[in-house]
Amino acid sequence: MRFLATASLLLLASCGMPEGGDPDAPRVAPILSTEDARDEQTFAEPEKARVTHIDLDLELNFDDQMVAGSAQLDILADQGIDTVVLDNDGYDVASITDGEGKPLEYQLGEEVEGKGAPLTITMGDAREITIAYSAKEAAALQWLTPEQTADGEHPYLLSQGQAILNRTWIPTQDSPGIRQTWSARITAPEELTVVMSGLSDDKPETVKEGPDGQKKRAFNFAMDKPVAPYLIAIAAGDIVFRELGPRSGVWSEPSMIEEAAAELSDTEEMIDAAEALYGEYRWGRYDMIVLPPAFPYGGMENPVMTFLTPTFIAGDKSNNGLIAHELAHSWSGNLVTNANWTDSWLNEGVTSYFENRIVEEIYGKKRADQEAALAYANIEETLAEVGADAPGTALHIAANPDPLGSAVGGAIIYDKGSFFLRTVESIVGRDRFDAWLQQWFDNHAFQPATSAMLLADMEANLVADEAEAEKLMLREWIYEPGLPANVAKPDPAAFAEVDTAAKAFTDERALDEAAWANWTSAERQRFLAKIPREMNSAELAALDEALKLSASTNNEELFLWLELAMQNRYEAAVPAVEQFLAEVGRRKFVAPLFEALMEQGSWGQGIAKRTYEKTRPSYHAVTRGTVDGLVLG
Ligand code: BES
Ligand code: ZN
Repeated sequence: MRFLATASLLLLASCGMPEGGDPDAPRVAPILSTEDARDEQTFAEPEKARVTHIDLDLELNFDDQMVAGSAQLDILADQGIDTVVLDNDGYDVASITDGEGKPLEYQLGEEVEGKGAPLTITMGDAREITIAYSAKEAAALQWLTPEQTADGEHPYLLSQGQAILNRTWIPTQDSPGIRQTWSARITAPEELTVVMSGLSDDKPETVKEGPDGQKKRAFNFAMDKPVAPYLIAIAAGDIVFRELGPRSGVWSEPSMIEEAAAELSDTEEMIDAAEALYGEYRWGRYDMIVLPPAFPYGGMENPVMTFLTPTFIAGDKSNNGLIAHELAHSWSGNLVTNANWTDSWLNEGVTSYFENRIVEEIYGKKRADQEAALAYANIEETLAEVGADAPGTALHIAANPDPLGSAVGGAIIYDKGSFFLRTVESIVGRDRFDAWLQQWFDNHAFQPATSAMLLADMEANLVADEAEAEKLMLREWIYEPGLPANVAKPDPAAFAEVDTAAKAFTDERALDEAAWANWTSAERQRFLAKIPREMNSAELAALDEALKLSASTNNEELFLWLELAMQNRYEAAVPAVEQFLAEVGRRKFVAPLFEALMEQGSWGQGIAKRTYEKTRPSYHAVTRGTVDGLVLG
């Protein structure tokens, strides 16, 4: 089976891939040529000509909300191939030249909704091309005003590339199966510091004084391991760094650095735990940046620089599963990458499983089991809603660049994906399972993968015999909708006490404030999910009064409370919701709150429309894209 997987690699490359856990990644990664690895979301034809390296030289222009400069691409193509196709979703090309500066012809093809347009370059026998370009209003980039930052004095820039947004500001082949090394020189106003998802040389140079007398600095970055291009990321702002451990640290605005560092103080231990589970951390440093609350996700696994929402900070590390998750992507996702977005579960499901294993190591089995039980309830709830035979509930699904964009996507790609691996683990035993997963990461390091490859790999390297194969139901897990009968259900004891308390509240509105105060965050979230969906204002007021929900410092809990309040037209919570929606741009919180309001007739729709009119400009394109559909229809 290993032979088959290797044979399907198209080595349009000067060097092959070393077997096993060689930490020195080759600079040119192979691409896959099988049908299931084809990426419908790209215009690139990598089997003919592919980008292997990008060198960016860009200036950040905050006044015009624009990046401008050049990208020099290294192209790998057989002799005789004279065109290369890139993805373009809005950046403006000024000129394209070859290595000698000779102009090359190019053509921008017809735009396809949600995908952009092909940029076809006639390169002749040139294999190094330079694109002079600029990108204004790029959907990946969010330009924040000083008012949108914690310290309020300087503007801020952040990017979000996954899944197919980097083609709005980087002229390259934007497909996860076409790995590229990259380097960058970024020029920014002097007061700002730039970070990227590559190692910095830590030597910004003061470069020039503009006509306005403004000084600028240029920062240099390099990623010498081939990565999927959605993982190229940038942030710039008035930020400072705090070391957390020998190879980890955190960036944030000065006023947040203290609480950010405190919340993240387990990071180095998490890296050690992850390595003990599944092998060496191969990226050198693991730094994080805590961004302003406009960031549209909880976290994004940009290599060597995880991007984080500040809303995960609770003061007690109760949301640190997020850190375990983004760290785990350093193996599942960044090292072994879904070849296209129909196999997102290979990134997110495997990562969610790995996340839970790290949480178990760092925070203990009780917490890990509770978090898994929440995930399981999410699968069950989703299947009950959409039907256990809905085709979108298979792990390998038709097309899904945005699994987090819908509740179903999240429950399947993340939670069913992780319960698949939990189930396999429970059948073959932890030792055998862990050995298998580690060899999967090692043998596919810095390469793309598909569901078919993972299935073949399990059959070759894990499954002992026919009898075990029958027990495992691997094919059904990956390709069939619903939840296979062999699923390893979470221990019902995980929430025994909370479920009893939720029943007491449901039956007689009984509340045990002391018990609540002692619960884990997972237990509180379970309680808030289990109590009745319909309540009157007096009941909601009593609930809030007893449990101090409005004052919660955990945003996951605060969000569940505000959502419940809006579902019941609880007037007293409206100012808090308005304030929350004005400050936070994280789609996971923002979209359901608007949805809850829109479901409440003219009462809620009035609030939603008036609020969104004010808050829309402060949201990232990712969040706007979803909320536009909900509120503007
Ligand atoms: N890679 C994802 C974020 C993502 C997924 C962006 C799909 C664009 C398309 C990231 O690792 C993630 O899963 N973030 C989660 C947190 C996690 C703990 C479930 C989030 O942002 O909520
Ligand atoms: Zn993830």
